[in-house]
Amino acid sequence: MLTTPLYLDLVAPQIASSHQEAFDLLARLAENRLGMDFHKRRHDRLFLMIGKRVKATFKKSILDYLSFLETNPNHPEWVEIEQILTIQKTEFFRESSQMKFFEETILPEIKHRKFKERDSKVRAWSCGCSTGEEAYTLSILFHQRFLPPTDWNVRILASDVHQNALEIGQIAEYTEESLQNVSKENKLSYFEKIGQNYCVIEPLKEMIQFRKINLISDSYPIKTKFSVIFCRNLLIYMTPFWQNTIVNRLRNYLEPGGYLLLGHSEYLADKKDFQLTKFNAFQSPIS
Ligand SMILES: C[S@@+](CC[C@H](N)C(=O)[O-])C[C@H]1O[C@@H](n2cnc3c(N)ncnc32)[C@H](O)[C@@H]1O
Repeated sequence: MLTTPLYLDLVAPQIASSHQEAFDLLARLAENRLGMDFHKRRHDRLFLMIGKRVKATFKKSILDYLSFLETNPNHPEWVEIEQILTIQKTEFFRESSQMKFFEETILPEIKHRKFKERDSKVRAWSCGCSTGEEAYTLSILFHQRFLPPTDWNVRILASDVHQNALEIGQIAEYTEESLQNVSKENKLSYFEKIGQNYCVIEPLKEMIQFRKINLISDSYPIKTKFSVIFCRNLLIYMTPFWQNTIVNRLRNYLEPGGYLLLGHSEYLADKKDFQLTKFNAFQSPIS
């Protein structure tokens, strides 16, 4: 259904009749490229931002711009449109009740199991990590709970579809505002002040590997199994098909007894053999 004639008109009033075509094409590109359900987004803001890209790229209209993207799937302009289509909002210790549950219940449980299995290797994955705050939050908690650090081999994979976000994560320098949920002690222990900003200390950075992975691609370049996967606040924007497909794929990357954590407003339509613990944390069968 067409809901945004205004912004399409801003760019090229003469193509008013092709509004529906542009709308349908954008919905198709968003789903094919990112698995996104375009109907879940606010269209007016999106079209306003896309209008700016139409001008910046000297295209005649939104339809012209989107058709160009469709026929040029590897063009650098895709970075811009992906940035517009995706939402990068994140922060340290986001969704604090779930993080507390992770820290106080899930981490000790993983540690206990690893200890019993005499396995010092622990792997975690933050998929859809945005600018890295979620992955660094995990690194702080692992650092505090898996002691002494020299006895454990903890690695965190932080992935996202968005290259620019990953580069910010690699630099690991954050504003005071994004650290608002970080305690004073953690700020002192895990960050170095650089001017007005805070930089994550090296030992935490060394725990994390950033990689570009689109969760709707045919396969993921990953061989390892994870004790925990954080997939928070991205499935909510996706079509039911991609929500189910991604969850089913992630399930195969969990160790027996491993955990999948979703965002607080996300849910599993088909839990299959997952056991819901609390706070949207799902555990795969132990064996
Ligand atoms: C709202 S952020 C969530 C960040 C973090 N997980 C959190 O909860 O704070 C959603 C992230 O998902 C990423 N994303 C969207 N579609 C994706 C896809 N198909 N594959 C991988 N990442 C995707 C976006 O680029 C964005 O950085």
